[in-house]
Amino acid sequence: MKPTKSPKTYRVKSFGCQMNVYDGDRMGELLEARGIAPASEGEDADLVVLNTCHIREKATEKVYSDIGRVEKAGRLARKKPMIAVAGCVAQAEGEEIMKRAPAVGMVVGPQAYHRLPDMLERAVKGERSTDTDMPEDAKFAALPKRRKVAPTAFLTVQEGCDKFCTYCVVPYTRGAEISRPYSDLVDEAAKLVDAGAREITLLGQNVNAWSGEDDKGREVGLDGLVRELAKLPDLARIRYTTSHPNDMSDGLIAAHGEVDKLMPYLHLPVQSGSDRVLKAMNRSHTADSYLKLLDRFRDARPDIALSGDFIVGFPGETEAEFEETLALVDAVGYAAAFSFKYSPRPGTPAATMADQIAPDVMDERLQRLQARLNRDQAAFNAASVGRVCDVLVERKGKLEGQWLGKSPWLQSVHFTGDAAIGDMVRVELTEAGPNSLGARVLEKVDA
Ligand code: 5AD
Ligand code: SF4
Repeated sequence: MKPTKSPKTYRVKSFGCQMNVYDGDRMGELLEARGIAPASEGEDADLVVLNTCHIREKATEKVYSDIGRVEKAGRLARKKPMIAVAGCVAQAEGEEIMKRAPAVGMVVGPQAYHRLPDMLERAVKGERSTDTDMPEDAKFAALPKRRKVAPTAFLTVQEGCDKFCTYCVVPYTRGAEISRPYSDLVDEAAKLVDAGAREITLLGQNVNAWSGEDDKGREVGLDGLVRELAKLPDLARIRYTTSHPNDMSDGLIAAHGEVDKLMPYLHLPVQSGSDRVLKAMNRSHTADSYLKLLDRFRDARPDIALSGDFIVGFPGETEAEFEETLALVDAVGYAAAFSFKYSPRPGTPAATMADQIAPDVMDERLQRLQARLNRDQAAFNAASVGRVCDVLVERKGKLEGQWLGKSPWLQSVHFTGDAAIGDMVRVELTEAGPNSLGARVLEKVDA
């Protein structure tokens, strides 16, 4: 690689989960702290960071085609953008990317991206570098402070996974479970609120496994953190995602009934309704224990909206086992859900299991599952019509005078009226579509 001028503009393209969005924003801030500005819409950036996801599908191949696209756009604009590959594909395939894609100057894993500015200095001198360490030195402490944030902000509280579900690549790409310290999180949340956040979503691959020591030295779980953050006067809403059924505590369930700012929404992946498949997935819960857990949430907070993740076509899944998943869906009545075809991930135990399911069988099962999930989501939305609730305004809608925001149950709500981004507006939900609801403004709850 030839020495080059320092980049003046950057663009981060994040794929995959919300934690990648959080990481992508943090990388942007690191670059801005070095005087590199975000490229404006339509402008070709001097530095492109591809913040990749490795959870499903042909993620690696996609990275190479994305690199090709960035190079081509650069040729058309007569410039040679610097390219960094970050995220979970970088972690899993770092050396390979360096070999196959000479245009890539930097490969950085999810636990090392605080070192991106140093790598950039080397890249400017013409040196390519790869950093997929999982260093002990705290990444979070090395990140710059956030200045201005949207009304809804993410805050990573926990990272990594020790569960080793047999299909999943996360324990290998994100590493072991770690919890960020309580005082750092309380501090960062307060700064987010000062910078304009009204809602904070606490993020973690196993967010409900978070634990820490509070300011009095007591061991607390996620509910302790939620209760502390709820004391921030200008913070209106708290959410958390993604949880694991086995880490659920009585305290967190109770918090849903006691902390008004904790929103009535729970994303709790189940993956399958078949106990045999769940065992082969190493999920260590059963369909029944999952349903009982949801009942406890409903007891604590009767209006709680439920969401889940599903995988169809796990190796060996029979038609009868798939139908157990459909039966579980019927038993729960999800307000929202994410469902995927099983995708063999290199290096995971399930990738080499016998009885991989044929693609057409997976397609057909996914369609049937999604038809039920869509039915339930539409029913949940339809049942919401007539409800009075608060909507946190996130952005302008497409129509003149229209605003978009979220209900407490994480539904997208649109309305027209006098409002601004960041307002909390009380509305009556008046019409339901499959993916969003219309509403009539009653009053602005606060400025
Ligand atoms: N194939 C399909 N879906 C997967 N997920 C994780 N790994 C795989 C895989 N190999 C899904 C799970 C998880 C969500 C984030 O992605 O449902 O909860
Ligand atoms: Fe992956 Fe299972 Fe960990 Fe979730 S709990 S990140 S699915 S290994």
